Amino acid sequence: MSIEQLNFHGLRNLQPLSFAPAAGINVITGANGSGKTSLLEGIHILGMGRSFRTRQLKNVIQHDAGEFALFGRLAGEQGAAGTTLGVRRLRDERELELRLRGERHARLAELVEALPLQLINPDAFRLLEGPPAGRREFLDWGVFHVKQAFLPAWKGARRALKHRNALLRRGRIEGRPDAAQLDVWEQELARCGETMDRLRQEWFSAFLPVFEETLKALLPLEGLSLHYARGWDKKRPLADALHAGRATDTQMGFTQQGPQRADLRIRLRKKPAIEVLSRGQQKLVVSALKLAQGRLLESSSAPGTAVRHCVYLIDDLPAELDGRYQQRFCELLEAMQCQAFITSVEPGALQNRWLSETAVRMFHVKHVGREEPGQPASGRLVER
Ligand SMILES: Nc1ncnc2c1ncn2[C@@H]1O[C@H](COP(=O)(O)OP(=O)(O)OP(=O)(O)O)[C@@H](O)[C@H]1O
Ligand SMILES: [Mg+2]
Repeated sequence: MSIEQLNFHGLRNLQPLSFAPAAGINVITGANGSGKTSLLEGIHILGMGRSFRTRQLKNVIQHDAGEFALFGRLAGEQGAAGTTLGVRRLRDERELELRLRGERHARLAELVEALPLQLINPDAFRLLEGPPAGRREFLDWGVFHVKQAFLPAWKGARRALKHRNALLRRGRIEGRPDAAQLDVWEQELARCGETMDRLRQEWFSAFLPVFEETLKALLPLEGLSLHYARGWDKKRPLADALHAGRATDTQMGFTQQGPQRADLRIRLRKKPAIEVLSRGQQKLVVSALKLAQGRLLESSSAPGTAVRHCVYLIDDLPAELDGRYQQRFCELLEAMQCQAFITSVEPGALQNRWLSETAVRMFHVKHVGREEPGQPASGRLVER
């Protein structure tokens, strides 16, 4: 799976662009502020419906423009026409307009499924350091793409949790929650939560060896361990944990145990990895996690169907990595034969890192016009 055509307009400082990336490696260079990250951001919004830089998609719309519109076409299988995706956001409307294969009102999960993306950027270390939500998202991305039953369970759990939390908050005000109503939503949360846990565990058992192998090739680290924590007491079913937690949950006003608290624990010799690893090592561990996601996706494609590859967005690859590790990273990425968009400020960066048979295309984002206070110069994408 790769993107064969991208057309963007109204995106940050970028001039309208229309380009056909290589199915392999695409290196995008340009000065600071030229628009490299914005280009990756556009692809990210196209596949995920959100930016990795802002929660406010309005900020992505070019100053003075009324909208941004992003279009992508994926390469089709065996000569078939490729899937098209479109995302549009008008300045005056909150809703994002999603299109898939020309159909309006596509659902976000359909876009995510059509274009599996992984991002590695200078904030990547947050996956180790930040709150569990980021790691849960990483975990669920993997489960979602390989387990069909995950999305309905995830939606069911989210709905049941919302209801249970509302009952708890009302119970706190009224002195006692409605036990009969709690029974109903706890049963549903337990049913969906146990399914999520089972699927997450299955995914994790397949993921762990792939991750360990990837890490070994990138940065052999003695004593690094990865664990999945399901979000509630190991010894009892979720229904029991919820029932037993009613009193304290009512005091807190929310549900303290359940699939919404799952996490991946990354430790080095029993200490949180983030407290021991150097910045470069953190980036490599996160890169190994993300490359392993793609490798597992490839190997879990159903027999008789095309192998699913994920597209990598790698912002500022050279940052924090010395030449040796840049080389190892590039070799691993190349061996996966997936499509990647890699940015760098260095014009010569990454030029000689690829085997000659890999399709590599070099692009440059040129600053056009004069930068004035409050008026950034626009960026034009050209092939080098
Ligand atoms: N909504 C917007 N409209 C127009 N320009 C914007 C908007 N938001 C940001 N910019 C400008 O877009 C430019 C491109 O930013 P971007 O982060 O993509 O650059 P970059 O090439 O990744 O730079 P760096 O090498 O420093 O990471 C910046 O100059 C920024 O000020
Ligand atoms: Mg940038």
